[in-house]
Amino acid sequence: MGNIVILTGAGISAESGLGTFRDEGGLWAQHRIEDVATPEGFSRDPELVHRFYNARRAQASEATPNAAHEALARLEAEHKGNVLIVTQNVDGLHQKAGSKNVTHMHGQLDQALCHSCEHRWPAPLVMRKTDTCPNCASPTTRPDIVWFGEIPYQMEKISEALSKADVFVSIGTSGEVYPAANFVAEADYFGAHTVELNLEPSSGASRFSECRFGPATQVVPDWVTEELAR
Ligand code: APR
Ligand code: ZN
Repeated sequence: MGNIVILTGAGISAESGLGTFRDEGGLWAQHRIEDVATPEGFSRDPELVHRFYNARRAQASEATPNAAHEALARLEAEHKGNVLIVTQNVDGLHQKAGSKNVTHMHGQLDQALCHSCEHRWPAPLVMRKTDTCPNCASPTTRPDIVWFGEIPYQMEKISEALSKADVFVSIGTSGEVYPAANFVAEADYFGAHTVELNLEPSSGASRFSECRFGPATQVVPDWVTEELAR
């Protein structure tokens, strides 16, 4: 029984072939954050930003969930209590694996946003700065991604879930980016058992009651099997 809140990061999708951000040769070694992941970068050069997200959208549309995503979908289907995935990822692999209760705190590659009227619609594979909003017809469309300096989505809902969590699991995230990096402290404050499942210790590893290290496709299914057998 019990409520489980799971935070996932780029590491859970690494074995599906999608690059992480801060590992050797990761996305932030190839691109400057200020150019491709800030509102200022987008207003300076929208085509550059669209090219960055068009490439990631194309890659994500071809990617398939791995055993870690599938194990979390199994946990949601079979666990008696509530299972919520709060993902920092924008790749849609949790849904593709069958998870239903997923909060995308950093947005989604397959969604577009109009910054004039806040309308959202399924993003075309290739977005361009000349695209117009299907609702208000303004040429003010952008990827529905939360950039640095912007407020992540659903923070109230996430804080509420953390305050009621019996177990908080962090998977495949370096613990470098707030507010997600502080979720373990919030969950711990409310008495949750906290678990880190990661390839190697994240910068927040010492804040967890339990840590297991290894590739997500190994450590996540093992942990889910044990959790379901409790
Ligand atoms: N299995 C498990 N963990 C892995 C694997 C793997 N196969 N490969 C890498 N990892 C771990 C790394 O050890 C690292 O701790 O995944 C983590 C990836 O960290 P980051 O690249 O920093 O990605 P993430 O934590 O998701 O970044 C958070 O930063 O740039 C922003 O918005 C972006 O959502 C992103 C946020
Ligand atoms: Zn609009």
